[in-house]
Amino acid sequence: MIYLDNGATTWPKPESVYRAMDDFARHRAANPGRGAHAMALAAAAAVDDARLQVARLFHIAETQRVVFRASATDALNLALFGLLRPGDHVVTSPMEHNAVSRPLRALQDSGVRVTRVPADPFGWVDPQALADALTPATRLIVLNHVSNVTGTLQDIRAAGRMARERGLLFLVDAAQSAGVVPIDVEADAIDLLAFPGHKGLLGPMGTGGLYIGPRVDTDALRPLSFGGTGGNSEEDVPPRTLPARYEAGTLNAVGLAGLAAGVRFVLEQGVERILAHERSLADRLAEGLAALPGVRVYTHPDPARRTAVVSFTAEGWEPGDLGAILDQSFGIACRTGLHCAPDAARTIGVFPLGTVRFCPGWFTTEAEVDAAIEAARRIVAA
Ligand SMILES: Cc1ncc(COP(=O)(O)O)c(C=O)c1O
Repeated sequence: MIYLDNGATTWPKPESVYRAMDDFARHRAANPGRGAHAMALAAAAAVDDARLQVARLFHIAETQRVVFRASATDALNLALFGLLRPGDHVVTSPMEHNAVSRPLRALQDSGVRVTRVPADPFGWVDPQALADALTPATRLIVLNHVSNVTGTLQDIRAAGRMARERGLLFLVDAAQSAGVVPIDVEADAIDLLAFPGHKGLLGPMGTGGLYIGPRVDTDALRPLSFGGTGGNSEEDVPPRTLPARYEAGTLNAVGLAGLAAGVRFVLEQGVERILAHERSLADRLAEGLAALPGVRVYTHPDPARRTAVVSFTAEGWEPGDLGAILDQSFGIACRTGLHCAPDAARTIGVFPLGTVRFCPGWFTTEAEVDAAIEAARRIVAA
């Protein structure tokens, strides 16, 4: 099987990730932060280690500002529902995943105003367009770092610095970029960073989190879930301290043990090297596919704005049918359709059928990419 669905979830994981989870489950799987016995402390140490590795990766100075949640979606919901109130204005882009668009839509129903600035035909958003859309009521800018439809890389540093100059909060959806594109929350002026553990960080599903920067007033950021945090049990309100305020209930500690190993692996390889490897595979894919008759590839023409997501369509083919043949006849795993980002599909002109999406990962080889191009060639030639 050739796995080109790394945009949905990376696979395989490094051996160290499997080993870390197995070791945790067998030897340390007491409840982290809930008891003072040796095994509970060992479990808590594993969670602390995951926090530390994530903080190292994103250049986060205070480890406790990393809050673990079950997914990027969960982290984005915490940021958006926690922060926004009726009357607030949000500026965002048409390239957002439903993990952002649907919470915003729900918030619109309760009086939050949302402006989506246009993107270029390949999904790039000019930071100046974000600036031009600001109003006195704007509270937040939300931007997808890398599109899961086109792979387009946004200039988050320019957007973040602009937001900071204007005293606004900046939320980045790093679902496709965490572990693949360098992110520095200080230099990029990010206040809130939502990340999944199961994609570029090479951890398991059920992990992810939100970085909450020092400019965010945590009294004003309402928790998404309320419950036990292992301390201050006499209080009937959540603790004010990070990360406990946003981590009610038992964490997915076995997953976080795997996530720590995944992030360590990313740090050992180096994000720049990972990006270079995945970009070169994606460029090879894009070039090979674009040369096929009737095939259209939707990567950005500027190489600096491309990452490891390659979407394409073939004349006369529905993406779903193409994906089914790739899977059933060639053993190639990919994703087809709208990729949970309908406005991104509208932006590049592929709504409502969407695209076929190939996403190479760190473990993808050139031979696999060439086999995928050859499979596409045979299908469209048939
Ligand atoms: C851009 C983007 N945002 C958010 C998400 C949601 O991530 P998760 O599956 O961790 O909730 C995805 C997942 O594909 C994504 O690609």
